[in-house]
Amino acid sequence: MLHDPNHLYIFDTTLRDGEQVPGCQLTTPEKIEIARDLETLGVDIIEAGFPVSSPGDFQSVVELSKAVDNVIICALTRANENDITVAAEALKYAKRPRIHTGIGSSDMHIKYKFNSTREEILNRAVAAVKHAKSFVEDVEFYAEDAGRADLPYLAQMVEAVIAAGATVVNVPDTNGYCLPDQYGSKIKYLTEHVKNIDQAIISAHCHNDLGLATANSIAAIQNGARQVECTINGIGERAGNTSLEEVAMILKVHAAHFPGLTSNINSKLFTAISQKVSSMMRMPVQPNKAIVGKNAFAHSSGIHQDGFLKHRENYEIIRPEDVGLNEAGIILTARSGRHALKHHLERLGYTMDKDALAATYERFLVLADAKKDIVDEDLLTLVK
Ligand code: KIV
Ligand code: ZN
Repeated sequence: MLHDPNHLYIFDTTLRDGEQVPGCQLTTPEKIEIARDLETLGVDIIEAGFPVSSPGDFQSVVELSKAVDNVIICALTRANENDITVAAEALKYAKRPRIHTGIGSSDMHIKYKFNSTREEILNRAVAAVKHAKSFVEDVEFYAEDAGRADLPYLAQMVEAVIAAGATVVNVPDTNGYCLPDQYGSKIKYLTEHVKNIDQAIISAHCHNDLGLATANSIAAIQNGARQVECTINGIGERAGNTSLEEVAMILKVHAAHFPGLTSNINSKLFTAISQKVSSMMRMPVQPNKAIVGKNAFAHSSGIHQDGFLKHRENYEIIRPEDVGLNEAGIILTARSGRHALKHHLERLGYTMDKDALAATYERFLVLADAKKDIVDEDLLTLVK
């Protein structure tokens, strides 16, 4: 498969790794609605499910394959013939099907999960890719727990699966173990030691157990990964996966650090899709979540509000409009200053001279100490 080295492929796994979260299961029509939104958002690949895991998941992959036209639809398997054959069957309506197969690569997984040897696991990896290749051209291989794998062995495995036909090699930090420089160096090592690496795309798949999933994915991009696997709101197993919206906004804010790198993501759709995924999956977004949290663009202390109102870039590195919000929030609390109060009074049509504002501000502080959230009705009562 020919790929554009300047394109960052966004692989969304909200409907697979994200949907594995307890309580987040979706119906097939809900999955179709989210998949269509992901397509409009501009993702390149949607991981639609793990077909062998249940009849419902199989059917979802079938229906998503029919419903989505322009995006690659990917199905997950373990490295065995039956999983792969079932996935191929589920993908039969996909216009652009991809099978995502793989096996553990760390000694921990090889010994305690598979009770096997490095050599045997390597053979199973190669056989799985060859079997998947007999159904589809586009085969992604994941080296599970690559974050803790021995590097020369990982490189040997990656080289062997590419030789067997893998078009994408996923290097998952399954347990969210790595530091950004460790994960970045791992990717770099693969680019330098795998002879046929230019025949495949390297993919970063990071988990957030130490809160480093986004940082690790960025380190991977800086070291040559050209696909990032992520989810809306960063949902996923345990502490979650890399958050799609965080990666996209980092690339936008720091575009100069990623010269020429493109993606098709329309960031203006982030707020809407984040809210839809959160409500459909019954998974609230933490208020201080970067990019899509309720407070991500809310300024609440007097010092910040005053600086923001003088020049928004004093306290704003991303325009709220760029993620689909109408405006930044100047939240009124007992920590707010006169400038913020004046701003809100003017918004409601009240202009005051200095003395009137000072008197209103005194009454405002008493109210704000007593009542945590000050809303427009409170301000109208104050001025009347
Ligand atoms: O975290 C992981 O290793 C995975 C693989 C199945 C890709 O989700
Ligand atoms: Zn995962």
